[in-house]
Amino acid sequence: MAHIQLSIVITIAIFLLQLLSGTLSSTFTITNKCKYTVWPGALSGAGTAPLSTTGFTLEPGQSTSISVPTSWSGRFWGRTFCSQDATTNKFTCVTGDCGSGTLDCSGSGASPPATLAEFTLNGAGGLDFYDVSLVDGYNLPMLVSPQGGTGGNCTLTGCVADLNNACPSDLKVTESTNGEDVACKSACEAFGDPQYCCSGAYGTPDTCKPSSYSMFFKNACPRAYSYAYDDGTSTFTCASADYTITFCPGPTTSLKSANNDQHPMAVNISAGSRQRMRPAFIGFAVVVLALIWQLW
Ligand SMILES: *[C@@H]1O[C@H](CO)[C@@H](O)[C@H](O)[C@H]1NC(C)=O
Ligand SMILES: *[C@@H]1O[C@H](CO)[C@@H](O)[C@H](O)[C@H]1NC(C)=O
Repeated sequence: MAHIQLSIVITIAIFLLQLLSGTLSSTFTITNKCKYTVWPGALSGAGTAPLSTTGFTLEPGQSTSISVPTSWSGRFWGRTFCSQDATTNKFTCVTGDCGSGTLDCSGSGASPPATLAEFTLNGAGGLDFYDVSLVDGYNLPMLVSPQGGTGGNCTLTGCVADLNNACPSDLKVTESTNGEDVACKSACEAFGDPQYCCSGAYGTPDTCKPSSYSMFFKNACPRAYSYAYDDGTSTFTCASADYTITFCPGPTTSLKSANNDQHPMAVNISAGSRQRMRPAFIGFAVVVLALIWQLW
């Protein structure tokens, strides 16, 4: 009898593990298609579970997958032109630096300008909310693509254009040693004007309108956030998805063609959760088979 009880406990434990692994995480695959090395950084939002990594290296062509807990919120970005000082061992990057002095960002965010991929997983209505933001400026092309999700407006977003050379001259960031254009500031960062920062008297959607500077970003990258109140056209939602984040996706990735797809606006969470629940049913089947085997 004790033997049967133990095996029941074990099979229930297996079932719960299946449930956890199947329903309580998303896989994020981060790929570097740039011709240069990118050092991705990750920052978890306050009160959300930390990730297994907060900074790593991706050589051209390399990919890394990360398991992200289901209610995670936070952001990913790419650091460029990083190096480690030979005497102090301090690790710094020309763009997107998080100021930690190491490869890990360990709770520090990107210093602007940096293209940001922002996520709130399993938020209101069980939906994931995500966007690619240029509100803190731009440093490299980035594409976010949901995989296998349903509902909402579950589609590609990002900024596939290379804006470093095209950047207006008063926003341009140029590397001091070789004169290369490496990033493009937001007007808020460049001028600190409340009108561009949507602060003070300009702190509401009615008073803070797009500027000619934010329109530069919006025209080049219509799906990306270009200023603080640009959420209507740049926030996307998806249920039960995995995500890929690609740096320098390349000119062949057209966001325009994805625009023409029919994306049902009605949220169909039941379809999404059913898909996510499949591993749980496998676990349930394991329990039933194990019980039958034990009682045989
Ligand atoms: C996507 O759906 C959300 C939630 O319904 C909505 O707030 C947002 O404006 C939509 N985004 C786009 C780009 O249509
Ligand atoms: C949700 O999706 C399922 C399967 O795709 C479909 O049968 C059902 O009609 C959908 N429900 C709604 C409200 O769209």
